[in-house]
Amino acid sequence: MTRILVIPGSARRGSLNAALAYAAVQSVQKAGGEPTLVNLRDLALPIYDGDLEAKEGPPEKAREFKALLGEYQGVFISSPEYNSSVAPLLKNTLDWVTRVRAKGETGLEVYKSRVFAISGASPGYYGAMRSLLHLRQILEIGIGAPVIPQQIALPRAMDAFDTDGSLKDKGQQELCKTVVEALAIAAKKFAA
Ligand SMILES: Cc1cc2nc3c(=O)[nH]c(=O)nc-3n(C[C@H](O)[C@H](O)[C@H](O)COP(=O)(O)O)c2cc1C
Repeated sequence: MTRILVIPGSARRGSLNAALAYAAVQSVQKAGGEPTLVNLRDLALPIYDGDLEAKEGPPEKAREFKALLGEYQGVFISSPEYNSSVAPLLKNTLDWVTRVRAKGETGLEVYKSRVFAISGASPGYYGAMRSLLHLRQILEIGIGAPVIPQQIALPRAMDAFDTDGSLKDKGQQELCKTVVEALAIAAKKFAA
């Protein structure tokens, strides 16, 4: 069974990206995979600070989160869009994890050795598409992580979900299923 870690890039109560992450969790379950949903607020990571790192090393929670990532073959991230880019909560978490290094590691291994899918939700008409362009660049070019081409950019997301958390629109439901299934297939192949 493919294990998928689902990471909403927003910890806000009522977050549209948490809602999208939940829809992805439902799709993973329907596809027979095993999803785990995390809340980045629980990590309570400080903003990356080189002086802090030099003094104390990366926070314990960043170490724990890296270890958690290492337990999953696939990772689904839903990314909010702030001023046409990735929100600081998500970027800061990704950054800290790259600074957790065992002896001889570059810190990027945990990203390079599993497969990612990215998606985003926004109240606007672009559906966080510009944050996805940046997130893909960060993961693929900055970190060297494999990211599948399929993604969801969910516009007008405040109207997109039913009371049970599923996506209202059939086309969006199908897209969510497509993304999750493609992630599971790629993750399985990659792990083999
Ligand atoms: C600082 C800031 C900048 C934002 N910039 C954008 C933007 O560039 N594009 C957009 O579609 N929405 C933008 N928004 C609105 C967010 O998409 C909206 O707050 C969304 O609900 C955030 O995601 P969440 O619901 O998962 O927390 C911005 C919000 C904030 C707080």
